[in-house]
Amino acid sequence: MSQSASTFQRVGVIGAGQMGAGIAQVFAVAGTPVTLFDSNAAAVTRGRDGIAKSLGRFVAKEKMTQADADAAVGRVTAVDGIEALAGCDLVVEAIIEDADIKKKVFRAVDTVVGDGAILASNTSSISITELAAVTKRPDRFIGMHFMNPVPLMRLVEVIRGLQTSDDTFTAVRDAAEAVGKVPVVANDFPGFVSNRILMPMINEAVTCVMEGVAQPEHIDEIMKLGMNHPMGPLALADLIGLDTCLAIMEVLHRDLGDSKYRPSPLLRKMVAAGWLGRKSGRGFYAYGM
Ligand code: CAA
Repeated sequence: MSQSASTFQRVGVIGAGQMGAGIAQVFAVAGTPVTLFDSNAAAVTRGRDGIAKSLGRFVAKEKMTQADADAAVGRVTAVDGIEALAGCDLVVEAIIEDADIKKKVFRAVDTVVGDGAILASNTSSISITELAAVTKRPDRFIGMHFMNPVPLMRLVEVIRGLQTSDDTFTAVRDAAEAVGKVPVVANDFPGFVSNRILMPMINEAVTCVMEGVAQPEHIDEIMKLGMNHPMGPLALADLIGLDTCLAIMEVLHRDLGDSKYRPSPLLRKMVAAGWLGRKSGRGFYAYGM
């Protein structure tokens, strides 16, 4: 089977949070019908509104016409029942970074979609091989890791599990290119490449705050001006979500078994307080909600 991107007739996205909505948006803009599923009806509405808002920013900048934005929104069917994914030939999961919850969802979607469908996870760190193993199609299972904010970031890290077939890899790589992204392959190790390198930097920045090395704004300013990073590590942590950062550090720490990946106690404390970054209105910075 040689599958080109255009042979995905309908893409399903599981999870209508910032990543899921972003993934649905890029496929819809590229002309592919999308079914965006979230079991939480309110999240479905928020996800669809988020897509319209993001497209509105492209329209305001004259990078897209209002008609094209409306057409893209019209390609997204937002649902709160998983059965609606039945007609999808590629399903990308983008839910909370929790292996047990992801496995439960993959077991369910595996029984809903057709035999030929490909299942992909947008996981930031969890083993693709392990997630694939709970389905009947480990050869048609792959990691498709988009970056936040999805509509702007060019990279898709494509992660091959132990049993991922060459055809699955080719189809997903082509699909990423068809939506204007640059796919780069990584093997299935904890955190893959992106978060194996990014998260320890963020974690260290949090430890710098905890130890009083510098104020958050100063840490971010040093990394922006001194390293030419587009945003500082603490502002980036707020964008990603501190709960997600902690979950990724936990995976690195547990699965690589090295104390250098120990999550910063301050990161734990902030997550325990519900200071999750932009999405909760407070992280290292305060955000008007
Ligand atoms: N949709 C559409 N447009 C958007 C947008 C969105 N979701 N988010 C921002 N924009 C637009 C803004 O409207 C703005 O447009 P103008 O310049 O025309 O005004 C433009 O993008 C820039 O936005 P801002 O001025 O708000 O901020 P910025 O200049 O700092 O750029 C950024 C924002 C692109 C996010 C940039 O700061 C950046 O690249 N940051 C680093 C992001 C990053 O590292 N992402 C990876 C995170 S790791 C990850 O995702 C993986 C994981 O597993 C955790």
